[in-house]
Amino acid sequence: MLDADIPGVLAIEQASFPDPWTEGHFLDELGRSDRTWKVAVEGERLVGYGGVMVVEAEAHLMDIAVVADMRGHGVGRTLLWDLAADALAAGSVRMTLEVAATNKTALRFYRSAGFDVAGRRPAYYPSGDDALLLWSRPLAPHVSAMRAADERRDLILAIESSCDETAASVMRGGSEELSSVVASQVDFHSRFGGVVPEIASRKHTEAIVGVVDQALESAGVTFADLDAIAVTAGPGLVGALVVGLAYAKGAACVTGLPLIGVNHLEGHIYAARLLDPDLEPPLVALLVSGGHTMLVSVPEWGRYEVLGGTLDDAAGEAFDKVAKLLGLGYPGGPVISRLAAEGDPQAIPFPRPMLRTDDLDVSLSGLKTAVIQYVERERREGRELRLNDIAASFQAAVTEVQVAKTLKAVRAHAASAVVLAGGVAANPALRESLRVALAAEGVPLSVPPFDLCTDNASMIAAAAHDALRAGRFLGLDADAIPGWRLGSGA
Ligand code: KG4
Ligand code: ZN
Repeated sequence: MLDADIPGVLAIEQASFPDPWTEGHFLDELGRSDRTWKVAVEGERLVGYGGVMVVEAEAHLMDIAVVADMRGHGVGRTLLWDLAADALAAGSVRMTLEVAATNKTALRFYRSAGFDVAGRRPAYYPSGDDALLLWSRPLAPHVSAMRAADERRDLILAIESSCDETAASVMRGGSEELSSVVASQVDFHSRFGGVVPEIASRKHTEAIVGVVDQALESAGVTFADLDAIAVTAGPGLVGALVVGLAYAKGAACVTGLPLIGVNHLEGHIYAARLLDPDLEPPLVALLVSGGHTMLVSVPEWGRYEVLGGTLDDAAGEAFDKVAKLLGLGYPGGPVISRLAAEGDPQAIPFPRPMLRTDDLDVSLSGLKTAVIQYVERERREGRELRLNDIAASFQAAVTEVQVAKTLKAVRAHAASAVVLAGGVAANPALRESLRVALAAEGVPLSVPPFDLCTDNASMIAAAAHDALRAGRFLGLDADAIPGWRLGSGA
């Protein structure tokens, strides 16, 4: 910040704070040797500023402000980490700041940069509000990890435990997979016909240490080589998420490494980029798994808008329930798609719920009920079930609705490509129908290979790399977010 910046700074200051600083304050600040003030500029326009006071090992963050129409674009975060790098160079180890306990926006911002709440100062502000005292984690590993991410040579250990897979992966530069280990619990759940949350958390607890050790070992690295630790923070089963998160927090605490929380659904979308590094937004993603079914607009990497989704069952869940009804075991998707390959998709006219509605939502429970009623009728009337035809006809109904809604989303959002992700993306009929329908629109389809479609930690590492570059971290007081909606902050 130079003297000449002060008018621009004052305009933002006055619009941001009830008790703004004056020109004299800023001139005085700029004259002090223990202060660093920086401005953020877009084109010719000053869009933000911030300052830090270096007091030996501690750097006190005085202020960060961003012009109203540029908030939420990462300007504040860039200022924060630029100031942190300067403070580090001046000999500081950590950064500290106070924020009004009522200022939820600021609190969320600093937490999402990895600050922990260390204490409370009652009635600290003239308004009578309490101040919360926030501490950063040690600055050095965070700043060096962000630099390594910028040069695409960062080494991330990622952990995934949101459902019934315990997974760990080591990834360099967001795309070079050095190892990927997935321990599936599916055998323990299959006899119950679905994932049992209690069993899932117990199995994660048993597996996590071995899975991480194996991922590090087969990558040929140790904790000392890593730049960051990433973990799925949500959405998922709470008892399953906390196992991965607790392990990751422990490792981040002991090593001092930055901790990154990844949204599991964002991970599924990033899986496509691992094989297709040139994949560029605007994208539409169709996420179809055992727990989720949704259409997401991705205007740029890291930004998401959920366009629509299932009103009841997830696509994978529908496959699993129909398979259970037919006595085919769990998970149902793979068996049904195998049977369907030998069946007639037009044999039974199952309904296509919501096919023609204007929205981008789908509903699958009516279809499931129609299959149940059909099977009951056939059994009642003593006819042998034609499993291949039932599977093919059911799969055709699911596929037709998903394809129609995806096309609608592509047209509405002028997507340049579509990403198909989640476990149900392994379904050959869905892949092929979607590919053909999109080809007619001139839009390519990106589908990750099978082992990247189902839950794994490499997709979490890929998403974590971008979070690392942007300085989006978790504090060690972070909680699992079982209902984390894509597109809302951690
Ligand atoms: O993404 P995923 O591994 O776990 C969740 O996050 O849910 O997805 C698992 C789901 C299961 O419901 C499984 O039946 C389904 O994906 N699935 C399939 C196929 N392979 C797996 N569904 C349809 N066709 C398949 N070939
Ligand atoms: Zn998943």
